Amino acid sequence: MSEKCDLCLLGLIILSSLLTGTSGVNETVFISSGENVRLPCNNALSLSDCNSTTWIYGTSRHSEAAELIKLGIKKKNTGSYERLSLGSDCSLNIKNVTKEDYGFYSCRQFVNDKQQGTDARVFLHVLHVSVSSSSSSSSSSSSSSSSSLFSSSSSQTEISPGRSVTLSCQLYSYTGFSCDHLVRFEKLQLSWVNQTGVDLTTDSRYQISSDHCIISLTTTLLNEDDNREWRCQLTHRNQLQTSVRYTVKYSETVISVTARTLFRVIVIIVEMAVFAAPTVILLQIICARRAGRKDSEHPEEIEMPTILQ
Ligand SMILES: *[C@@H]1O[C@H](CO)[C@@H](O)[C@H](O)[C@H]1NC(C)=O
Ligand SMILES: *[C@@H]1O[C@H](CO)[C@@H](O)[C@H](O)[C@H]1NC(C)=O
Ligand SMILES: *[C@@H]1O[C@H](CO)[C@@H](O)[C@H](O)[C@H]1NC(C)=O
Ligand SMILES: *[C@@H]1O[C@H](CO)[C@@H](O)[C@H](O)[C@H]1NC(C)=O
Repeated sequence: MSEKCDLCLLGLIILSSLLTGTSGVNETVFISSGENVRLPCNNALSLSDCNSTTWIYGTSRHSEAAELIKLGIKKKNTGSYERLSLGSDCSLNIKNVTKEDYGFYSCRQFVNDKQQGTDARVFLHVLHVSVSSSSSSSSSSSSSSSSSLFSSSSSQTEISPGRSVTLSCQLYSYTGFSCDHLVRFEKLQLSWVNQTGVDLTTDSRYQISSDHCIISLTTTLLNEDDNREWRCQLTHRNQLQTSVRYTVKYSETVISVTARTLFRVIVIIVEMAVFAAPTVILLQIICARRAGRKDSEHPEEIEMPTILQ
């Protein structure tokens, strides 16, 4: 028990030093998906062409760490290859961060195949919002779909007035320095705020639930919500670290479909007016003629026998 506590305390101290940046070697970086990030290499030896620098990436304690950069050269066998680049100070730049990029990044120095000193690690935490919506009438998740905010698949999620929408904001973290620990011990906080920065927890329009590293906002969309913005923000000791904006956009296809339907209706009405009116007139003429003929025929038919008689 006490051993565990000691470990906890040690973890706390390491975390504190990490977060306050006093370690000087290891760092913690918070970023939102879709943004670009620069991970500093705090132990670089020769900056000339970073040819002593190797960047290693890992996501969990147990998984195999992968070399992203080897002695200043980018390795091709990585999923993030296209988005990586080495800064002139040997920092690692990642463009358009995805939620899969969370983890630790170790900057390691080699001279003549021998490692120099210890690794300088950067723990990257990624904030990401996913959207799901369901028709609020059924209020079940039967027709719910999920999509990423920054992917083009947002068209999959139907965003229109009357629908219920849930925005899930999650901080993705390396298990070694998990978000859970940060939230519990380090005053790391997730919140949903509106355009003016007001926390929406107390607003009865929204159902907000949080579970350490996920905070979700659920609301039924109103007509006037088009272009409304909600923001998931991450603060550490009341200092803003990063935030993700979500802007309600009622899809133009919905509008154009409505407009097209309206246009069709108008066309049909006009068509009816143009074609139906003469038809009606024609019918009236035919009817009138028939009636007239009948009027003139009947007396004949009636009269004929009388005449014949
Ligand atoms: C930095 O991280 C590495 C790898 O986890 C660790 O070996 C080292 O002790 C850390 N340094 C500091 C100053 O915390
Ligand atoms: C790195 O570059 C420096 C200067 O260009 C050179 O002296 C050194 O030999 C290079 N090291 C390796 C491992 O290629
Ligand atoms: C960023 O990545 C997402 C997929 O993760 C992609 O849909 C989007 O087009 C990318 N943005 C840029 C500017 O490359
Ligand atoms: C933000 O929320 C507060 C409280 O719910 C509200 O009074 C304010 O009008 C909102 N601002 C915007 C721009 O929606």
